[in-house]
Amino acid sequence: MNVVEEPVSVGGVTFSDPEVRRCPFPTYHQLRAECPVYLDPVSGNYVLTRYDDVRRAVLNKTLSAKTGVIQTRKSSISDQVDRMYEEQGFLPVDTLVTNDPPSHRHFRVLVDKAFTKEKVAGLDPQIEASVTEFIDGFIDEPEVNFFDRFAMPLPMTVFTDILGTTDRDLAKFKRWTEVGMESSNPVLTPQRELEIVPQIIELQRYLAANGERVRANPDDSLLSTIANAQVEGRPLTMQELVSILWLLFLAGGETTANALSGGIKLLIDRPELTDIIRDDPAKMDAFIEETLRIMAPAPVMFRRATEPLTIGGVAIPENGIIETRFQAGNLDPDVFPDPETVHLDRPNGRSHLTFGAGIHMCIGNQLARAELRAAFTQLVGRCTNFRPSRGEDSYAWTTTYVSYGLTKLWISFDKR
Ligand code: HEM
Repeated sequence: MNVVEEPVSVGGVTFSDPEVRRCPFPTYHQLRAECPVYLDPVSGNYVLTRYDDVRRAVLNKTLSAKTGVIQTRKSSISDQVDRMYEEQGFLPVDTLVTNDPPSHRHFRVLVDKAFTKEKVAGLDPQIEASVTEFIDGFIDEPEVNFFDRFAMPLPMTVFTDILGTTDRDLAKFKRWTEVGMESSNPVLTPQRELEIVPQIIELQRYLAANGERVRANPDDSLLSTIANAQVEGRPLTMQELVSILWLLFLAGGETTANALSGGIKLLIDRPELTDIIRDDPAKMDAFIEETLRIMAPAPVMFRRATEPLTIGGVAIPENGIIETRFQAGNLDPDVFPDPETVHLDRPNGRSHLTFGAGIHMCIGNQLARAELRAAFTQLVGRCTNFRPSRGEDSYAWTTTYVSYGLTKLWISFDKR
């Protein structure tokens, strides 16, 4: 399209509505068909829903990841909040997901060194053992809340393995995850922001204490590799280290948990898949990619236009905030026909946008895939016939702005 159009808002549809976030699929399809570059009337953000637009946006070098929306957040009470961080915790700084080149590159190289194939594979035995332990914990019970007893504990435990600590206070990690995710809500109220910042500071201090531990006594944990590495010829400041760890904690926790629960939901909806993926490792891998594509636990990220530009013929002004709706792109029927259905033979099954693309492509994608593979291999190996155990009340869906998935999943199953 060559003509530059004014962006439009279709009938007041807004992602600030929790109901839209709880069940966004119809909205994605409506916007993609009627208005694929959409000006959200409440957030003022430009929402992209076509696969090609989303992919091009994350590859576009004129778009900045320094948006002020997540982690290094700017709001009407920033002065007050920043003082709280400075006095009691660590003022968040741009390191990875909210950073641009060239600075982004320095931090990315450093963290990539901790997330090498070998180091990530080194976590496999602990992952396998945790999967076994959590399944042992519920396999003889008549029903289980899979989210609380498996999906959340697994990535939380993996995070403690990354830190190299034996701390297993999972309730604390769950609480920190919830407030951390909430802090990325672009329509968060100032009052709520003031309530959650002290809890984020608590998390920061916990992460800093772990950083100090491995600086004093280096070990073979991923944390130790990061904490004792050099960035531009100097060690990371504690402020930078805490920002990176906070990101690893948030980026790898609820996302992976939501993918795990999402996969079980897909097996509930299509029970025949359980046998198929159990008997064929290639189909298991394809199922994991389809789960990631459809459930896309990090459904959206943000970019800021550093200069005026047009996307899909729509003018976006300088400093306009763009929502790259990865999940909407994943459900684009022009790229993935019959998009909401699991197909284990898609030729482009790995081309989904769930882990982003370009310089910010997810550092933890291999780790997340390893957790999913270990989990589903043992789950379908030991259980079958997954079904909701409390009817419609078996499910609750998150309304957090930057995540998608179940927060409650009551299931029954048969032991094999
Ligand atoms: C299913 C699970 C996961 C999903 C859906 C996911 C999704 C994403 C997405 C979409 C991005 C790109 C953000 C952007 O373009 O702005 C990203 C970046 C990132 N992810 Fe993940 N992630 C997952 C698991 C993990 C895990 C397990 C870790 C590590 C423990 C991790 C660490 C990161 C980091 C550090 C970045 C920032 C990279 C950068 O900016 O250079 N993620 N993730």
